[in-house]
Amino acid sequence: MFKGNKQLLLLAIAVAVVGCLVGCAPQKQASENDPHAHDDNTASTEMVDFEFSQDSDCTLCHTVESESMDDAACLAGLGSHATIECLTCHEFDASLEKAHDDVSVGDSPRSSLKRTQVNETACLACHSEEELIEKTADVTVLTDSEGTVVNPHEVMSTGTGHEEIACSSCHKMHTSADAAQTAGDVCLSCHHKEVYECGTCH
Ligand code: HEC
Ligand code: HEC
Ligand code: HEC
Ligand code: HEC
Ligand code: HEC
Ligand code: HEC
Repeated sequence: MFKGNKQLLLLAIAVAVVGCLVGCAPQKQASENDPHAHDDNTASTEMVDFEFSQDSDCTLCHTVESESMDDAACLAGLGSHATIECLTCHEFDASLEKAHDDVSVGDSPRSSLKRTQVNETACLACHSEEELIEKTADVTVLTDSEGTVVNPHEVMSTGTGHEEIACSSCHKMHTSADAAQTAGDVCLSCHHKEVYECGTCH
């Protein structure tokens, strides 16, 4: 019981800190969206069992992501993205259900979850891969120390080491992170010497 409370407290602190750091816009009217705010009305703060379903109100716990849908500085809030339902991108599957197995009403997610991937088919419903390759043909943000330039939208279909790279590896939806910056870090996680050709050194 004590351990649980301590974890909750740490969670609350972590969430508060992250709200300030990664939110695209200053957090306004926190009490309006803060699930804990409503606890004041309830006599008991005991945890209530929560049953995750397709009808769950996602905004209740995922304040940062929900607010990003109203903020054009975030990709999720830009143009037609803002009208997409959470579950259109986040498939309601066994892994999403599992992530909510031990969740209680009033729980807030950890500050940063283990990397959440979104299936690229959700994006390709509206974006065409061929068109994307054309559009970024002149983009040079991915240039290694040898001067090799790679089109960011060709990487996913190049070579045998890139199966895990998805749209969401570079495009963050709920923060204002810029793909031109995140893309380079994705490559460096494997191409450790800033050289794209692997076989040249060992
Ligand atoms: C009662 C609070 C609550 C509600 C309601 C809720 N979530 Fe969550 N969600 C959480 C918590 C807590 C976590 C973090 C779980 C963990 O620590 O792994 C989480 C994790 C997630 C993740 C990350 C999963 C992963 O594997 O990285 C996604 C995506 C997500 N939720 C989407 C949704 C969607 C979509 C809805 C609405 C249909 C929703 N959540 C409703 C509390 C909630
Ligand atoms: C419902 C259709 C739809 C879906 C699904 C969709 N997009 Fe988009 N996206 C658009 C449209 C339309 C635009 C052009 C901007 C606008 O006017 O809405 C756009 C623009 C973009 C842009 C350019 C942003 C800019 O600064 O100009 C990026 C990057 C992007 N989408 C990435 C994604 C990713 C990644 C996914 C999947 C996680 C996705 N989109 C899913 C319709 C969609
Ligand atoms: C390796 C990183 C990376 C991956 C993976 C990636 N992108 Fe991009 N994307 C970029 C970069 C870099 C740009 C250029 C943005 C800029 O200059 O700010 C871009 C631009 C875009 C644009 C705007 C194009 C324009 O000029 O109008 C769209 C739309 C887009 N990406 C969608 C997607 C979708 C959908 C996927 C998955 C199928 C995807 N991207 C995968 C890095 C990536
Ligand atoms: C257009 C597609 C799209 C929509 C709509 C969308 N998301 Fe996401 N979401 C993503 C992508 C892509 C990621 C992984 C990259 C990132 O963290 O931004 C993500 C990440 C997340 C995460 C994990 C954050 C972390 O710390 O790792 C949660 C939780 C989440 N979304 C919840 C939601 C909720 C709740 C909604 C509805 C209010 C929603 N998303 C709507 C595409 C989407
Ligand atoms: C998960 C690890 C991983 C990541 C992340 C990764 N690569 Fe690679 N890449 C590899 C491996 C392994 C090879 C060698 C595979 C082969 O020879 O087919 C490779 C090969 C390449 C090649 C040579 C392809 C060829 O035709 O032989 C290029 C160019 C390249 N990567 C560019 C990139 C760029 C640009 C990024 C960032 C967007 C990136 N890679 C991200 C693992 C990775
Ligand atoms: C520009 C030269 C260069 C290229 C290109 C290069 N490496 Fe390396 N790699 C090194 C050097 C030097 C070391 C040993 C020193 C170190 O770890 O920094 C190393 C170490 C490693 C190690 C650790 C080996 C050990 O015994 O600890 C792995 C694994 C590795 N490289 C994988 C790769 C992969 C996969 C690629 C392609 C994605 C790659 N390297 C491309 C120079 C390179």
